[in-house]
Amino acid sequence: MRVCVLGGDGYCGWATALYLSRKGHQVAIADNFARRQWDFELGVQTLTPIRPMPERLRAWKQLTGETIEFLSGDITDYEFASSVVRSFAPDALVHFAEQRAAPYSMIDRNHAVFTQVNNVVGTLNLLFALREFRPDCHLVKLGTMGEYGTPNIDIEEGYIAIEHNGRKDVLPFPKQPGSFYHLSKVHDSHNIMFACKIWGLRATDLNQGVVYGTMTRDVALEEALINRFDYDEVFGTVLNRFCAQAAVGHPLTVYGKGGQTRGYLDIRDTVRCVEIACLNPALPGEFRVFNQFTEQFSVLELARMVQAAGQKLNLSVEISHLPDPRVESEEHYYNARHSKLLELGLKPHLLSESLLDSLLNIAIRYRDRVDPSLFLPKVNWRNARNERRPKAAAEAAGSAYEAPFEAAAVSAPGNGRVRTGDDRQ
Ligand SMILES: NC(=O)c1ccc[n+]([C@@H]2O[C@H](COP(=O)([O-])OP(=O)(O)OC[C@H]3O[C@@H](n4cnc5c(N)ncnc54)[C@H](O)[C@@H]3O)[C@@H](O)[C@H]2O)c1
Repeated sequence: MRVCVLGGDGYCGWATALYLSRKGHQVAIADNFARRQWDFELGVQTLTPIRPMPERLRAWKQLTGETIEFLSGDITDYEFASSVVRSFAPDALVHFAEQRAAPYSMIDRNHAVFTQVNNVVGTLNLLFALREFRPDCHLVKLGTMGEYGTPNIDIEEGYIAIEHNGRKDVLPFPKQPGSFYHLSKVHDSHNIMFACKIWGLRATDLNQGVVYGTMTRDVALEEALINRFDYDEVFGTVLNRFCAQAAVGHPLTVYGKGGQTRGYLDIRDTVRCVEIACLNPALPGEFRVFNQFTEQFSVLELARMVQAAGQKLNLSVEISHLPDPRVESEEHYYNARHSKLLELGLKPHLLSESLLDSLLNIAIRYRDRVDPSLFLPKVNWRNARNERRPKAAAEAAGSAYEAPFEAAAVSAPGNGRVRTGDDRQ
C-alpha cells in the first residue's frame, strides 16, 4: 500500500512512518518542520536529541534497505498539498500535520488564530486535493479524545443514538472541547464529515488519547532514529513529563486535585492503530470515527504510578499540586467506549511497571538536557495574553535547532506563510 504520512517529522508521525515502512508499505513523509520552529520559538527542546530529517532517512535506508520519500512543504499551501496527492498518489493519507499543543493555542490571540488556521486550512486543502485528484484515497486523520470533553454520560465512538420527542436518529456525539486547539480538531471533524457526505470521500477520524512512551522497535534500532520525548509544559504529554521530572528530582506537577481523567495509549499502539485503519479503509462516502486509546487514568493515578516506579530506581519522587492553569473539571465522571480498533485486531500494550521503568531510564539517560524551568505552567486559560520566554532566552536555549533543509518552509505566528488577521491589510 502507498501511504503518505503528513507530519512525519513529529512524535507520532516519525514512529508511524518507520513502522509502516518496515511492514512493507511504500511510505512518503511530508512535513514543513514547523514543530522544530515552534520549539525554537518557545526555547524548548525534546529530551532526546532528534536528528535532522536527511540523517534520519539515511540511517533507515542503511539499516533496512528501505527508502522513505521526503516531501518538504506546508499543507496550508494548496499547491504543495495537492502536489503531494498528485505526485505520490497515496492509497492512504495519514494526517498528523497539525499544531497539537492545547497550551500553545492558549498563549494569546495570535497563537489561537495560528493554530486554527494551520489545522483547519491544512485539512480543508487535503479534502479539496483528494476530491480533485484522488477521490478513492482513504484519509486517516488524527483527531483527539479531547474533542468530546468530559460529559457526565458515557462517551460513544463518534455517534450516539438519540430519541427525542418520540423520534430517533444516530447523530454525531456532542463535542465540548477544552481549548482553541481542541476546537480546531472539532472544526476538522465537521469539515471531513461534510466532504464525505457531498463528495463521497472516505475518511477515518482517529480520536486519539494522550500518547506516552517514545520507543518503538524501529526507533530503538539506532540513535540516529531516536524519536521525540517532549517534557515541557506546552508540548510535553503528561506521563512523559512526569518521568522527566522524576529523573531530575523535580516534584511531579499535578494540576489541581488531579482527578482529571483521560484515555491514554502507548506509542507502539498508535502506530498499530494507524496501520489497522489503513488496512481496513472506510467505505466511499463513509466518515468513520474510532476512539484510539487503551486505558483510562486520572492525572493523580499516573503521578502515583511514576512515584512508585521511581522509588524502585532509588529516585526520590514527590508530588506537588499546583493551581490548575486550565479551565476544566478536576474531578468528574469519565467512561469512553473504545472497542472498534480492538475488534479489528489491536492487541494493546498496557501501562506496566516495566514500561514505566524503561521510560524512566530513558529520562535518566538524557537528564542533562532537562531544563527544569520548562516544567512549570506559564500558560493560563483565564488570560487572553500569556507571557512567553523572552526572545534572548529562547535563542540561548534553542541552540540545538538546526534548519534541516535549506528550503524548509517553517510556519510560526507572525513569521509564517499562514497569514493571520494581524498580517492582513
Ligand atoms: N501526542 C499526543 O499525545 C496526541 C494525542 C492525541 C492526538 N494527537 C494528534 O496526533 C497528531 C500528531 O501529534 P504529535 O504529537 O506527533 O505532534 P508533533 O508536533 O510532534 O508532530 C506534528 C508534525 O506536523 C508537522 N506540521 C504541523 N503543521 C504542518 C503544516 N501546516 N504542514 C506540514 N507539516 C506540518 C510538524 O512540523 C510536526 O513535525 C496531531 O494531529 C495531534 O493532534 C497527538
